[in-house]
Amino acid sequence: MMPRRDEDAGPGPASTPIIDLAEVHKIYDSGGGAVHALRGVSLRVEAGDYVAIMGPSGSGKSTLMHIIGCLDVPTSGEYYLAGTPVSKMSSRALAEVRNRRIGFVFQTFNLLPRASIARNVELPLMYAGIGRDERRRRAVEVLEQVGLADRGRHLPSQLSGGQRQRVAIARALVNAPSIVLADEPTGNLDTRTGQEILAIFDRLHRQGHTLILVTHDQGIAGHARRIIRIVDGLIEEQGPAAAAPAPEAVTDAEAAAPVAETRRGRFDGREVPA
Ligand SMILES: Nc1ncnc2c1ncn2[C@@H]1O[C@H](COP(=O)(O)OP(=O)(O)OP(=O)(O)O)[C@@H](O)[C@H]1O
Ligand SMILES: [Mg+2]
Repeated sequence: MMPRRDEDAGPGPASTPIIDLAEVHKIYDSGGGAVHALRGVSLRVEAGDYVAIMGPSGSGKSTLMHIIGCLDVPTSGEYYLAGTPVSKMSSRALAEVRNRRIGFVFQTFNLLPRASIARNVELPLMYAGIGRDERRRRAVEVLEQVGLADRGRHLPSQLSGGQRQRVAIARALVNAPSIVLADEPTGNLDTRTGQEILAIFDRLHRQGHTLILVTHDQGIAGHARRIIRIVDGLIEEQGPAAAAPAPEAVTDAEAAAPVAETRRGRFDGREVPA
């Protein structure tokens, strides 16, 4: 059922977490006075895990997600991505990680309003320097996965909120990232649309992606294997990892392998949904 991961599933140690934050602090020091948004967060996530992050508004969830997604850096503490300290990565390596290894679904969709749906989805591939035909092919593929293959020519404003969110998910997936981060992906959606989005995430989990999802909704968090609660910039409670083993196909070797070898065609397999 996981056709394309077999080649990656070597023996090798399974102990290095793909995400490992050690005593991470984040202080925003914008004009109006410093805000201590994260106060020493330590968190390990194994490859293939599915984690829900919960906590009150302003508790630091998005801040944490931005750091995990390499969109922002800790004020102190260290973030190890597949064993490598992010603070030691060159800006080029970081750009590569952001562009290819991590897919980010933002709390607000962040779609370009004047660009077509197809173009919005292709954007990460353009940054990655992928040619037009390949871009088109892959954009169609992921749009199919989220049930929007027929909307490529529309503008974001011509879609419903749930559809836009699915476009944002397609865009996050188009580079076949091993890690998918989603900040309130069902935030403003009705229950049914939210369920559709969750079904997409459940499928990604089965395919072996590492998923981290922020939500206010306990029912949604229930889809994850682990729930982490943040209060006031600190992890207050960390639910035990589910007993089930992580999907066998994701290995540290894969996480550490050059992107070009791992990203190709993860979505051209037989698990593409109907
Ligand atoms: N760029 C910034 N400059 C200053 N303070 C910030 C900045 N971004 C976030 N904060 C502050 O950091 C704290 C954590 O914010 P964060 O966005 O991480 O919360 P959150 O848990 O995602 O909340 P929500 O559930 O409302 O999205 C808040 O007090 C917020 O006001
Ligand atoms: Mg937030």
